[in-house]
Amino acid sequence: MIKLSSALLFLVLSATTALAQETADTVAPEAAGSAPPAFPGLSDEARAALDAKMAGTPVAAERWMVAAANPLAVEAGARALAAGGSAADAMVAVQAVLGLVEPQSSGLGGGAFLVWYDAATGSVTTLDGRETAPLAATPRLFQTAEGEPLGFFDAVVGGLSVGTPGTPMLMEEAHRRWGRTNWGGLFADAIDLAEDGFSVSPRLADLVAGDAERLGRFPETAAYFLPGGVPVAAGDRLVNAAYADTLHQIAARGSAAFYTGPIAEDIVAAVRSAPGNPGVLSTLDLGLYRVVEREAVCVPYRAHDVCGMGPPSSGALTVGQILGMLDRYDLAALGPASAEAWRLIGDASRLAFADRGRYMADSDFVPVPVEGLVAPDYLDARAALLAGDDALPEVAPGAPEFDHALLWADDESLELPSTSHISIVDGDGNALSMTTTIENGFGSRLFVRGFLLNNELTDFSFRTHSGGVPIANRVEPGKRPRSSMSPTIVLRDGDPALVIGSPGGSRIIGYVAQAIIAHLDWGMDVQAAVSMPHLVNRFGTYDLEAGTAAEELAPPLEALGYEVNVRDLTSGLHAISLGDGLLGGADPRREGIALGR
Ligand code: GLY
Repeated sequence: MIKLSSALLFLVLSATTALAQETADTVAPEAAGSAPPAFPGLSDEARAALDAKMAGTPVAAERWMVAAANPLAVEAGARALAAGGSAADAMVAVQAVLGLVEPQSSGLGGGAFLVWYDAATGSVTTLDGRETAPLAATPRLFQTAEGEPLGFFDAVVGGLSVGTPGTPMLMEEAHRRWGRTNWGGLFADAIDLAEDGFSVSPRLADLVAGDAERLGRFPETAAYFLPGGVPVAAGDRLVNAAYADTLHQIAARGSAAFYTGPIAEDIVAAVRSAPGNPGVLSTLDLGLYRVVEREAVCVPYRAHDVCGMGPPSSGALTVGQILGMLDRYDLAALGPASAEAWRLIGDASRLAFADRGRYMADSDFVPVPVEGLVAPDYLDARAALLAGDDALPEVAPGAPEFDHALLWADDESLELPSTSHISIVDGDGNALSMTTTIENGFGSRLFVRGFLLNNELTDFSFRTHSGGVPIANRVEPGKRPRSSMSPTIVLRDGDPALVIGSPGGSRIIGYVAQAIIAHLDWGMDVQAAVSMPHLVNRFGTYDLEAGTAAEELAPPLEALGYEVNVRDLTSGLHAISLGDGLLGGADPRREGIALGR
């Protein structure tokens, strides 16, 4: 066993501040003193929350809290909560603004998963607003004429990758079940910002500049993000009249205004006429779309229950497997600076990802051994594989108990970082955890009626079979692509203790698992837990967050047998802990805040 010095422990813990300083120029220029504010017009409370995040201090509140990826969106949610709205009301307001100010990550043209803790009943339920494959999709959707997988971005950019959006109906369904305030009024902040214009954030400006070639391929997209051929710059005032009009229609008529009629027809026309890469989405797909309620997947960990989204997300099962294996080891005693702790975490993750690649997909289309994958006996057996001293030389999927015959080949889908996460607790004690996405940054790059369309279908495996054996996450008409999104609510004695989630492609799973471990095992408050330098292992290579104390762990991890890769690891964790009051943490790697009262 290799243990690192207490000096390194200090480095790991104090990296919160170091990391905050490194990212200060892109996250909160005002913190540097002379730069103009990144978010002009913010309330004093929101500015204080930005400062608190950069200082590594959690935001405290007594009654309600909201944490999300952009201060303007968080303020809209806070206004809904302050007016007596529920967490579902606040989510609608937050999502409507995120779709405007962080359009690259989520919006009306995408999909989302929502986990809800209901204070009145003490129950947890989940809503699946994942995109669906069009009914006209064939198994060859992402293959060349020769049956070979398309290049990733050849598939992403254009119409082929666009699934039927789920977010508008998810917003409406959550409001129908749990909303307390008037639906139409929840769009007011977003409509005002879209009509009056909002200040382009540094992160949006950077991402537009980095993606200008792809955004420039489509006239409507280019006109908005590259007016006059020039990428929008930080601080530019951007008006989105088309988005305001779309929101007016949804506010007045509900999601039917989106799924039927002229908006639906424009979405379909954009997809089917995309130059070079037309897709097969139809108005029938939009008309048939439904949000699905699913049972939450809950796995015990350190006297808590970690609850999240089951298939078609792999999030709760994979996070649950990782934590379930680690529950058999004493990470608290090892501490965050111990390479042994990271050996256990890394190899538990590799084992869970092996099962994920073999078994996890949309359970409405393929049988998924949900219970078997997190059964105590199975986790005991998988955890026993971690008992050695060195990195596992290789990992393979296990054989969870199941009453179906299973013969699946391992998955090959590629998921690049993207997405956004919203955590909310309302004044009645309801908790909401929602991860929301249009998949790749800027999705398909198709821009319709003021919002971007997703490229979620590229979360499917491009190959349908391997060695003659079918892949569970293959494309099928009407199916929902497997996700890694891991919106999570951690319960203690049936009450919510932590609301958390993150963007980040398939690294979402590692970010969320690490933050839960940091909070529950290593006693970090939510801000420290989300700011902590990342170490993520999915498929063997250990990713260490560049420019942080995580790099110090490279030599001991290499000595244990891992290949390491130092790189940016841009999570976007937003977390709220509940105990003696509420504490909120927002990821310093992005622009968000936590705000409460
Ligand atoms: N498209 C990201 C995810 O669903 O995991």
